[in-house]
Amino acid sequence: MSKRRLAPEELRSHRWFGPDDLRSFGHRSRTKQMGYATEEFRGRPVIGIVNTWNDLNTCHTHFPERVKDIKRGITEAGGFAVELPVMSLGEQMMKPTTMLYRNFLAMEVEEVLRAHPVDGAVLMGGCDKTTPAILMGALSMNLPSIYVPAGPMLRGNWRGEVLGSGSDVWKYWADRQAGDINDNTWFELEDGIARSAGTCMTMGTAATMMSLTEALGMSLPGASAIPAVDANHQRMASASGRRAVDLAWEQVRPTDIMIQAAFRNAITVNMAIGGSTNAIVHLLAIARRAGVELTLDSFDDVAGDIPLLANLRPSGGYLMEDFYYAGGLRALMAQLRSRLALDAMTVSGRTMGETLEGAEVYNPDVIRGLDNPVKESGGAAVLRGNLAPDGAVIKPTAVEDRLLKHRGPAVVFKDYPDLKARLDREDLDVTADSVLVLQNAGPVGGPGMPEWGMLPIPKKLLQQGVRDMVRISDARMSGTSYGACILHVAPEAAVGGTLALVQDGDQIELDVAGRRLELLVDEAELARRREAWTPPAPKYDRGYAALYMRHVNQADQGADFDFLAGAPGSTREPEIF
Ligand code: FES
Repeated sequence: MSKRRLAPEELRSHRWFGPDDLRSFGHRSRTKQMGYATEEFRGRPVIGIVNTWNDLNTCHTHFPERVKDIKRGITEAGGFAVELPVMSLGEQMMKPTTMLYRNFLAMEVEEVLRAHPVDGAVLMGGCDKTTPAILMGALSMNLPSIYVPAGPMLRGNWRGEVLGSGSDVWKYWADRQAGDINDNTWFELEDGIARSAGTCMTMGTAATMMSLTEALGMSLPGASAIPAVDANHQRMASASGRRAVDLAWEQVRPTDIMIQAAFRNAITVNMAIGGSTNAIVHLLAIARRAGVELTLDSFDDVAGDIPLLANLRPSGGYLMEDFYYAGGLRALMAQLRSRLALDAMTVSGRTMGETLEGAEVYNPDVIRGLDNPVKESGGAAVLRGNLAPDGAVIKPTAVEDRLLKHRGPAVVFKDYPDLKARLDREDLDVTADSVLVLQNAGPVGGPGMPEWGMLPIPKKLLQQGVRDMVRISDARMSGTSYGACILHVAPEAAVGGTLALVQDGDQIELDVAGRRLELLVDEAELARRREAWTPPAPKYDRGYAALYMRHVNQADQGADFDFLAGAPGSTREPEIF
């Protein structure tokens, strides 16, 4: 993509620093107050480093160091680097759920960029919701931007055995609940499962979104799999800073990169990596900010025949560090060349096809070819039926085969506290064939669509050896989770979706191959129940959470705010008086 290179006085920041007037005097004199000379900032692209760091985001602890690397790159390329800290969304510590704040961060990124004299941005993200949030905000502001992924942490280690984030926690917790693991072992696992800076190193939501952002063309080729503590990560960060300066001069904007073909590439890659179900709701939201038409059905349309090529947990056996050594995302995408839009442009200035040239697989067990996939079909499937008229999502690769077609009686929990209170009771009327149903855990009901969708297996079934059963909710689940969990049911229970009408003992039928999810209750009875239904009392009546509940869209629309829809760049630039 060759665009005209701007003259210095055409830079956006020139409006602040260029004119000979009272306001600009203030902007210049106060920048000098920080120790900079005029020639360091005037007439140069000002690059905002949007930093999602804080002391409680356990995955971004290396960001203060990476900021230095990025600044080095920006300065070297003739730009002026400014760090713009924004809210961080540390998945482990934030409650009730980071998803409640994804839209908050997206708004903050958009407004921070809008309000300041910046010409371009380096977007630092990684831990789950940070990536979609900063892409959404950057798209709505639409300044030239490049994404720097946090990178995954190193493999976990326990007595020489490899441990994976999330997946192994669920696995060993189930063993502990069943009485198979003692306290000592449990604490050793706690010491070994997270050994360095970086995101979860399974193909969970963080690794998925970092990979998909590379597939969208928004990071430098090969960036997404570099372990956070590898020196190559530092070099990638400074190279991204250098590139950000060129993007600003050339005015290459997020909407030039995140076009329809780029989203098709991302969906294709999501299937081949066995990506997190969360990616669906995030890609829908990002696409709507980009003005690109994408629906739940696009996921089945684009990717129905894309096999699982990445042998990574939770769908396969390896971890992100292995994936990096095996060639990383470029090597995987090279296997998919025939299925990708190779002419899609990337922030590197080269087409996707050009960036894949020379990419090789160094370990064919980790990155498989189309002729030797891990599974014939990867990623997520979209289900519809009277229980989810606007769709629901399941990850078949993480489901025991026997449950892909299933009929069973519902065991209903009206909300998460109800689930916590009753799930492990001896008198709960549940068998391995039951279908666990959680209501009121969606965007409005949660609120924020928490990751409650991997409903725990009742203790008494665990003790019988049951490790998977069909579970349905309007919640999400962690990308590192697994099991026959039907998620993102839309419309959700809290706004009167059919999910709200399910009662104990109702038969539910799941047919993943047929893409169906049905509540086997006749229409007249459902109409009676609908008539009698009343919405749950709102959990919040003031503040951000109340605003969220009033304005959040349903999962099939990306759970973005209704008032943030709209073409990128449609908000006015600030007046400088
Ligand atoms: Fe940050 Fe998993 S907790 S990526």
